[in-house]
Amino acid sequence: MKKLRAERWGYDFNENPAPPPTLRQTQMALAKEGKKVLALAPGDPPAAGYPPPQWLMDAVTQAMKDGRHGYRDTRTPDLPIGIAKFEKEFSGVDYQPSDIFPVPSSTSAMVLCYLSLLDEGDEIISPEPIYQQYSFFANYFKCKMVKTESFEDDRWQPDLDAIRKAVTDKTKFIIINNPNNPSGAVYDDKTLKGLIDIAGENEIMIFSDEIYTFLTFDVPQATSVAKLAKDVPVMLSNGMSKLFNITGWGVGYLAFHDPADKMPELRKAIGLLRGYCGRVSSPVAVAAGYGYQNWKRAMEDVQPEVKDIRRRRDWTVKRIEEIEGVNMTTPEGSMFGLPDCVSAHGKVWKDDVDFLVQLMKEELINFVPGSNYYSPGHFRVGFLSSDENLEIGFNKLEKFLKRHT
Ligand SMILES: Cc1ncc(COP(=O)(O)O)c(C=O)c1O
Repeated sequence: MKKLRAERWGYDFNENPAPPPTLRQTQMALAKEGKKVLALAPGDPPAAGYPPPQWLMDAVTQAMKDGRHGYRDTRTPDLPIGIAKFEKEFSGVDYQPSDIFPVPSSTSAMVLCYLSLLDEGDEIISPEPIYQQYSFFANYFKCKMVKTESFEDDRWQPDLDAIRKAVTDKTKFIIINNPNNPSGAVYDDKTLKGLIDIAGENEIMIFSDEIYTFLTFDVPQATSVAKLAKDVPVMLSNGMSKLFNITGWGVGYLAFHDPADKMPELRKAIGLLRGYCGRVSSPVAVAAGYGYQNWKRAMEDVQPEVKDIRRRRDWTVKRIEEIEGVNMTTPEGSMFGLPDCVSAHGKVWKDDVDFLVQLMKEELINFVPGSNYYSPGHFRVGFLSSDENLEIGFNKLEKFLKRHT
């Protein structure tokens, strides 16, 4: 048999940290016995009952009625114009439409960045916790993901000294996710400026995944690193999945911020490769252009959901304080938090996966292990879970911990 491309590249599927087979196997075995597991770390707003705005759905129907079915419509100029308007008005970054590269998701924007920048053997630095897809693709491209520690006690801000030390002549970029999935960290301006300094000193880039930029609880919004980067090139990914509650429609973009025009060749490469990362379907692209032109309306529409998420965040922070054996740094944004379960480690469970497998078997609830995000000893909780499910889940967790520790 001929080898798979991935095998030829030496890609080690076992290194893909997600999802850990033991948890998946446990869930499948329980399903065979007719037992349903309650998932407590969801990240899909429509599946959690938050629909897209009606006016956006109407815009798709209208685009179809208007016959916007062609290749040309997938490249409608209204989409980059709308996104540039959103970025300018919301993030305060002065993008031109030509800086915006629409692709079918923010994940595709990350692939586009990797495709256009990486050579085999390159290194990418990311402060923990690391959204798993960043490392998956680094692996696939035979590049090294270099993890640096973050200060959990200081709102999960990255350790800038560690990042500075981690830079080598192979480093291509630093990748961040702000606000962060799964820690809920929102990086403050001091941190972002520190990252920009490191990138500037070493002539490397920053890739910033800002899919949760609108979802902050204690500050009005997260600062886009591009707003502070005067001459360091930044690639930013974002998309409509979370702000517009359309995770399944497939609209994302890469925004290239290079005000000093340091990397004109890279801009060309992104433009060429973008076409190979798929296209946004034509009626959706047309409606998305309209959606971004009206981003303030979307922001108003999503407020009840943001309020729900914030209420559940507050509830979870309080509830975790009552439970012995778990602690959580208060998440400031995104829809997740990352409690630790370290204190029970070594005594009862080998690691976070072992802990969660046992919890699933005994209590039929499931969280996502922190080791999926290179932060072992933790687990991800999601505030899209309903109030009722969170209450059931944390009661079960408390019972479980009391029984074992
Ligand atoms: C940090 C992060 N980046 C990217 C994505 C995916 O976004 P998209 O639907 O645009 O691919 C997610 C989805 O959960 C995410 O949590």
